[in-house]
Amino acid sequence: MKTVHTVSDLRSELRAHRDAGARIALVPTMGNLHPGHLALVEEARQQADIVVTSIFVNPLQFGPNEDLDSYPRTLAEDQEKLESRGNDLVFAPSVREVYPNGIEYHTHITVPVITELHCGASRPGHFTGVATVVTLLFNMVQPDLAVFGEKDFQQLAVIRKLTRDLCLPMEIMGAPTYRESDGLAMSSRNNYLSERDRERAVRLYQMLCWARNAIQEGRRDYSTLSDEAIRTLDSEGFHPDYFNIVNTDTLEPANHEDTRITILAAAWLGQTRLIDNLSLTLD
Ligand code: PAJ
Repeated sequence: MKTVHTVSDLRSELRAHRDAGARIALVPTMGNLHPGHLALVEEARQQADIVVTSIFVNPLQFGPNEDLDSYPRTLAEDQEKLESRGNDLVFAPSVREVYPNGIEYHTHITVPVITELHCGASRPGHFTGVATVVTLLFNMVQPDLAVFGEKDFQQLAVIRKLTRDLCLPMEIMGAPTYRESDGLAMSSRNNYLSERDRERAVRLYQMLCWARNAIQEGRRDYSTLSDEAIRTLDSEGFHPDYFNIVNTDTLEPANHEDTRITILAAAWLGQTRLIDNLSLTLD
């Protein structure tokens, strides 16, 4: 497995494969890889001949008071993990390689409406940062397929929309959320949790399960249900950001006719912001 740091090395590595008609998959990441990331690599491995994983902590998607500087950078360990899963190429560019003129002078990709809801409401500019870097990575790698986790449900929806809107010639694939044995969604940020908060963190997933069961049993008073979940989380030491019951396709508040529903939640526990979601289909 090779690692390249520049677009020009990336392109020369991929040229022969592309000319030979290989199907190329991209798995974009910010590194500090855990089994959830590696499941995406395995999915890509099933779907393509060549798997490229990018590792880039994208400054453009971090807010001014967020964890850009402390975000864990663990390239050597990540390379070992990727090699053991049959990844072919690691693309680990510098900030200067991705944004040669600095982030403030770079062309930005802004996806309307969907980015203003949920996480977008509390992290202004975050999804523009994600959309911009993902578009750049798509243009750098030119994959046939890119794999993203459903863990970041809104991010996946934003990327599907930008791919459609800009007529980008690649397929977007979502992969299921990979969880710890107690149900907590795996995340690089879980490492920030204190021991006590780590034990409590699973309550976010349990509240999603509680709401899903309530809907399956017939409750349709979605905003009351959300309020109840927020109150419970609040009383258990979380600072909930949102707990929203939405239409799976539009991410707008669900109404009584919707049959494809997703429950999206974000909450702070100490200094750590956790997000998770669950989808369900009603018949
Ligand atoms: P990062 O948080 O490193 O996640 C990289 C990919 O792994 C994303 O598609 C994310 O949804 C997926 N992922 C993370 N935890 C997961 C889990 N527990 N189960 C399944 N998939 C999981 O998301 C980003 O980086 C960045 O925003 C990026 C898309 C790379 C753009 O900078």
